[in-house]
Amino acid sequence: MNDLNFSRLILGIWRIGDWQKTPAELADYIEACLDLGIDTFDLADIYTGYQCERLFGEALAVRPSLKQRIKLISKCGIALVTPARPQHRVKHYNTSGAHIVASAENSLREMGVEQLDMLLIHRPDPLMDADEMADAFGQLQRAGKVKRFGVSNFLPHQLALLQSRWHEPLAANQVEVSLLHADTLFDGTLDQCQQLRIMPQAWSPLGGGRLSDTAPDTPLGKVLVRLGSELGVTAEQLAIAWLLRHPAHIHPVLGTGKLDRIRELVAAQQVSLDRQQWFELLEAALGRTMP
Ligand SMILES: NC(=O)c1ccc[n+]([C@@H]2O[C@H](COP(=O)([O-])OP(=O)(O)OC[C@H]3O[C@@H](n4cnc5c(N)ncnc54)[C@H](OP(=O)(O)O)[C@@H]3O)[C@@H](O)[C@H]2O)c1
Repeated sequence: MNDLNFSRLILGIWRIGDWQKTPAELADYIEACLDLGIDTFDLADIYTGYQCERLFGEALAVRPSLKQRIKLISKCGIALVTPARPQHRVKHYNTSGAHIVASAENSLREMGVEQLDMLLIHRPDPLMDADEMADAFGQLQRAGKVKRFGVSNFLPHQLALLQSRWHEPLAANQVEVSLLHADTLFDGTLDQCQQLRIMPQAWSPLGGGRLSDTAPDTPLGKVLVRLGSELGVTAEQLAIAWLLRHPAHIHPVLGTGKLDRIRELVAAQQVSLDRQQWFELLEAALGRTMP
């Protein structure tokens, strides 16, 4: 379900610490993405040692007009051991109602915005109490602080548990899916998204950059080179087009900090793979033929 009209491609902000952009440069980058049709940005409380949302907020403060044009996703539920959170003794998950509300409110403060378009529970928590989570969702939604709720890295049964208590359809499941990690095609995750019209968001759609290092003499490398030259596109464009071809309507979450690469990946939306090309890539990625 995409009633929020998120752009099909999302920009992930996880690697903001590597980008070395000043707030003004980051504002330029956000604006350039908007101009290329990417209006949705994916953050989390924990990224860059709990600094990502503050850094993103500094860019928005430089150019406040961006706030009206962007859609924001953030996440909560992972607790890291870091000097930024001296009270954490051990890495753990926290999906208590109090933590969800406090974390979302902190995300808004850090970014200097009034509402998140989407809040995701970052990972399934073995201690998750679905009633308590649904209460927290209701509290945040009634206060106008979060529009819609979703999950990340949830298996179908975990999503079903939370869905059984939350009265609205969960809006997204953000999972790892790419030519280098195809598990969610077969473990029911993408089937559930299609069945319930939940938006699948694909993190690390280029395998975190590893796709670009695929050697041309490997099974996947050979197909990427051959199809790339047949269609006149790059390996990265093929990898994005392969995700976009899936009927669950996957939204890739891109991680690059470089505008020329964003342009290239935006152009991948024009690449159409036929069924056999799609399977050639899948078989090469899996290293086996279909049974
Ligand atoms: N929900 C979760 O658990 C979870 C987990 C991980 C990530 N995420 C989200 O997913 C987003 C994307 O993850 P990701 O950064 O791993 O995605 P990705 O797009 O697979 O990888 C991006 C990385 O690949 C590098 N790269 C190398 N060659 C590239 C090329 N030709 N085109 C594009 N990138 C190239 C980029 O470097 P340059 O910057 O130098 O281009 C960047 O370091 C994150 O920002 C985060 O929002 C979510």
